[in-house]
Amino acid sequence: MTKITAVTIIGCGDIGTKVAALWQTRGTTVSALCRSRPSLERADKLGIEPLPGDLDQPESLAHLQVSGRLVYYFAPPPQTGYTDPRMRALLQALPPDARPNVMVYISTTGVYGDSAGRWVNEDTPVNPQTARARRRLDAETALRTWGQQRGVPIVILRVPGIYGPGRLPAAAIRSRRPVVKESECGFTNRIHADDLARICVAAGDCRHAETIYNVSDGQPGTMTEYFNLAADALGLPRPPVVSRQEAGRFLSPEMLSYIDESRRIDSRRLRDELGVTLLYPSLQEGLAACATDPSARCRD
Ligand SMILES: NC(=O)c1ccc[n+]([C@@H]2O[C@H](COP(=O)([O-])OP(=O)(O)OC[C@H]3O[C@@H](n4cnc5c(N)ncnc54)[C@H](OP(=O)(O)O)[C@@H]3O)[C@@H](O)[C@H]2O)c1
Repeated sequence: MTKITAVTIIGCGDIGTKVAALWQTRGTTVSALCRSRPSLERADKLGIEPLPGDLDQPESLAHLQVSGRLVYYFAPPPQTGYTDPRMRALLQALPPDARPNVMVYISTTGVYGDSAGRWVNEDTPVNPQTARARRRLDAETALRTWGQQRGVPIVILRVPGIYGPGRLPAAAIRSRRPVVKESECGFTNRIHADDLARICVAAGDCRHAETIYNVSDGQPGTMTEYFNLAADALGLPRPPVVSRQEAGRFLSPEMLSYIDESRRIDSRRLRDELGVTLLYPSLQEGLAACATDPSARCRD
């Protein structure tokens, strides 16, 4: 197997910086596409070589060198539409002889759509029901087609809700935003950000022509259970409970779409083939670690 000596990250935010740190501890050099001065400065501070460029300005990508590198693509699609012009812009900007060793893409388990609570593995047909999921599927399709044409191994990680230090819904819980009563909730799935970063590193060693892995801690639960356990971990009162019908008045359409799609993610292929042992195999362990992490920054 070729040793990875250089990594490039397209979309170096929370997960990207964690992945960069893991590769740096192995002595691997890391570069990252940065679209703004703050992201350039952040990369620089972390010992990551900043590559100026913006996926929304395709001409700014012409200088990117990816041959012989492990490339991670972690940038989200735009907020609207049914395609991912950012992924397509990157692929078009790469010269015809560009040959990364591997490309790893973080997609979403949302591409499976609603499964009425059934278990979903990588052979389950995709059935995206939101524009968000359709954009992700477009990015997957574009990348897989490009990989087949160029002979570049592609790894797609279908990722559910990411939680971790600084990613807990603290503001929503503090503002007493209600949750839907458990008997009316579908199944949702989670992965701790540190485990996802370790999975991304393991995926970088993958040399199959094309592989899809479902990512999850293997313990599906409800969104309500997640909010309750997050409140406990943060030392806050649990949120008030409303019916699914009442929730339409309080929750965003995006949050409602997460609650209404119910699936249980089967991540056995990930464990069997990539051999990653999770640091946080359940929410209880993962949330306890988040609550004691002083570096927490909150997102909702
Ligand atoms: N939240 C979840 O539960 C969840 C679930 C499944 C998948 N995901 C996806 O997982 C991926 C990694 O997550 P994350 O938490 O690391 O995301 P993040 O912290 O938001 O990082 C995304 C990065 O993409 C960069 N980016 C966005 N638009 C760009 C553009 N036009 N040109 C260049 N760079 C651009 C951002 O740059 P700046 O630093 O300049 O803003 C940021 O560094 C994301 O695609 C996310 O949508 C998330």
